[in-house]
Amino acid sequence: MLPNVLQPRATDHIPVLAEEVRECLALRPGETLVDATFGAGGHAALLAADLRGVGKVIAIDRDPTARAYFERFERAAGVNARLLRGDFGVVLPQLAANGVRADAILLDLGVSSMQLDRPERGFSYAVDAPLDMRMDPTQELTASELVNTWDERDLAAIFRRYGEERYAKQIARGIARRRKEQPFERTGELVDAIRAAIPAPARFGDGHPAKRVFQALRIAVNDELASLESALPAALEMLRPGGRLAVISFHSLEDRIVKQFLRERERGCTCPPDFPICVCGHQPELRAIQRRPIRAGQTEIAANPRAASARLRAAVKAQPEED
Ligand SMILES: C[S@@+](CC[C@H](N)C(=O)[O-])C[C@H]1O[C@@H](n2cnc3c(N)ncnc32)[C@H](O)[C@@H]1O
Repeated sequence: MLPNVLQPRATDHIPVLAEEVRECLALRPGETLVDATFGAGGHAALLAADLRGVGKVIAIDRDPTARAYFERFERAAGVNARLLRGDFGVVLPQLAANGVRADAILLDLGVSSMQLDRPERGFSYAVDAPLDMRMDPTQELTASELVNTWDERDLAAIFRRYGEERYAKQIARGIARRRKEQPFERTGELVDAIRAAIPAPARFGDGHPAKRVFQALRIAVNDELASLESALPAALEMLRPGGRLAVISFHSLEDRIVKQFLRERERGCTCPPDFPICVCGHQPELRAIQRRPIRAGQTEIAANPRAASARLRAAVKAQPEED
């Protein structure tokens, strides 16, 4: 019997923009799907149904709890499936280098509801728990290690950069002062230190006062932006011509990386506009499926508030030009 925390529950993660992802990835029987953020397998189940029993699914997740969900998925999916445990920023380049090819790749970024809702993982500012935040519990760096040992200036920089936190400096100073007396071990202690460091009116406006610092710590602990930056070129390399890539992001830092990547690879000729003919010979590597990111509608947001910040961008890999 699996321990309770590993048992999939009916109320687990609800896949966001699921129909929209399905339309963008448009899987056909016989194709290969790479779900690089398998989670509870909600998207994978929906997408695998389009393979109609013929095709392959490669699932990736750095969180070992994904295995229990994968086993349930594998039993039901009726297609050839395997799970690779690891960071997609490492696994996708390895697969690409080994010549593995795919017809559709999905990255549904960030954390799952299971990770957020399980207090022992330390992702939530709403419950007092160990200050952890690792998606991969075998990784060395935890949020408490980071908060207790990083230089005050580095803390302020990540709160500003990854959390867009206005009071980054004050919060980092408050943390540095408090940890001299007692190291941080629990999320509740950090929430108290954040509350104490910001001006009183800011404690009540614009959501929970610890929201932005927790987001920043989670991004830093899991090195989320670096993973995304190394995953995108590898995903494009893995796609067969005509293959589809879909990325769902949940904050502007991720979305900016995806948007810039798609723009760069979509660009054809890069010669200066006053050149009479093209000398660079640069061909577009992909075509974005839509100009603006797809956002969830009111009905989806009402049923799943997490969908409110989701942005889906998708692209098709270009076919090589005939000579
Ligand atoms: C938003 S959830 C995905 C939910 C999934 N689409 C579903 O329908 O159940 C994100 C998942 O991706 C995993 N993840 C996030 N970043 C990752 C990375 N760099 N490498 C591998 N897995 C990652 C998390 O552990 C989490 O399970």
